[in-house]
Amino acid sequence: MAHVPLTHGPLAHDPLTLAPPTHASLPGDSLSLVALSGSLRARSSNGAVLNSALTLWNGPATTADIGALPHFNPDLDGEDATPPAAVAALRTAVATADALLIVSPEYAHGVPGVLKNALDWLVSSGEVVHKPVAVITASPFPTGGDHANAQLRETLRMMTGEVITAACREIPAIGPKIDAATERVSDEATLTDLAAALAHLATAATGTPAAR
Ligand SMILES: Cc1cc2nc3c(=O)[nH]c(=O)nc-3n(C[C@H](O)[C@H](O)[C@H](O)COP(=O)(O)O)c2cc1C
Repeated sequence: MAHVPLTHGPLAHDPLTLAPPTHASLPGDSLSLVALSGSLRARSSNGAVLNSALTLWNGPATTADIGALPHFNPDLDGEDATPPAAVAALRTAVATADALLIVSPEYAHGVPGVLKNALDWLVSSGEVVHKPVAVITASPFPTGGDHANAQLRETLRMMTGEVITAACREIPAIGPKIDAATERVSDEATLTDLAAALAHLATAATGTPAAR
């Protein structure tokens, strides 16, 4: 499990981001975010969206490499079992974060297997319970990955995650909205909307579960 610590200052000081500092009023400066990408592709457009989201988040933000996880097997997950190291690292990353962001493509009108596998490892252990979660899907097509987005929200709700609908996005026609050189979102309207989505997630993460 490779955790990449990505702690960011104000957007105005990030040379890789082309939007104005629209996130300046994001609540919860000290809130932490962990983000998972459903794409393992090196030059993934969803990875670019995730990178931009981490930059926009006004606090510590990390991502976890879910490609390192073994296939979920309940035999490895029982009370007497010691979870594989990559699983333990994922669980710790999610447990210690104030909010969870999932950014994913859609494959065959569904959730990429690698991402569903990661979520399966988090079902019984409970790290997602009452965790504020945002689901963002990006696609080259006009649908924005709507099937995968709906399926992810359903699965996360079943896991008792707190899916923040106002923080979820389906981003259509993602191709030209990405700057290939920086591997970040370069479309200003998309960046502004991404910042708005993250503000909703941060607001939700500000209170205790009972207070939300
Ligand atoms: C096997 C496969 C199935 C796909 N199925 C869909 C689909 O059902 N809906 C969709 O919007 N895009 C689909 N796509 C296109 C992906 O959205 C596109 O390849 C996208 O760039 C993948 O995300 P990434 O750039 O983050 O890797 C599919 C791509 C592949 C390789």
